[in-house]
Amino acid sequence: HEEAHGPEAGYSFDGPFGKWDLTQLQRGYQVYKEVCAACHSLNYVAIRDLEDLGYSEAQVKAEAATFQVPGVNPDTGEDEMRQALPTDYFPSPYPNAVAASAANGGKIPPDLSLMVKARHDGSNYLYNLLTGYQQPPAELAEEFPDFTIPVGGYYNPYFSSLVIGMPPPISVDGQVTYADGTEATISQMSQDVSAFLTWTAEPKLIERKSTGWPVLGFLLFATILAWLAKKQIWASAK
Ligand code: HEM
Repeated sequence: HEEAHGPEAGYSFDGPFGKWDLTQLQRGYQVYKEVCAACHSLNYVAIRDLEDLGYSEAQVKAEAATFQVPGVNPDTGEDEMRQALPTDYFPSPYPNAVAASAANGGKIPPDLSLMVKARHDGSNYLYNLLTGYQQPPAELAEEFPDFTIPVGGYYNPYFSSLVIGMPPPISVDGQVTYADGTEATISQMSQDVSAFLTWTAEPKLIERKSTGWPVLGFLLFATILAWLAKKQIWASAK
């Protein structure tokens, strides 16, 4: 399958000086919420973690209320769905794996929390996967005359087995209407949701990168100090 290369302009968080673009992460969350959450959970992300993206406590509370999670009726003790709270995790839209599989032609939409870490070059891979759906190339049919795309499968050269059980989730420009007015092209939505899923997988990415600089500064300082001390200690030994 094809090697991921990511969006042309790269990501704001690339490289040693990379930073999150919070407006992008918010757009990416919007794409997750309006598109991906129909099939995929984020079981390792608490709804209140959205505060790190710049949403207020009240916004997060309102956001939580738009999700349903399994709960127990306090009066009857019966299992039933309840409105999510900010402390809940982004739930799966399906009650269990059997239902998830039945709704998706036998494939289970995986949890997306750590997907970027689970795939090689995950942030770029995600972008290419989302924008990479296409007709199978003619050479493929020539080389493997028996090759057909199975029902419920979609050709995608970036997917490891080339045929994925996920219909192209981002398929038309303007599929979401961005709250910040950004033009929602297929490429833009794909980059934004990939950036968002990079944050879910590695929320401390930028902190981790940026601790390196003070460490280097300290090491440089300590080295100079050691050299000066050595000079002074040996100054009298002519
Ligand atoms: C698999 C992302 C929307 C159904 C996947 C995978 C990713 C992903 C990264 C795993 C690919 C891999 O294993 O390397 C997304 C994103 C979405 C989205 C970012 C929103 C933009 C949806 C929707 C559905 C869906 C709306 C249901 C209609 C599935 C299924 C699989 C899958 C069934 C398993 C495919 C297989 O194993 O062949 N998705 N997805 N996804 N997704 Fe989605």
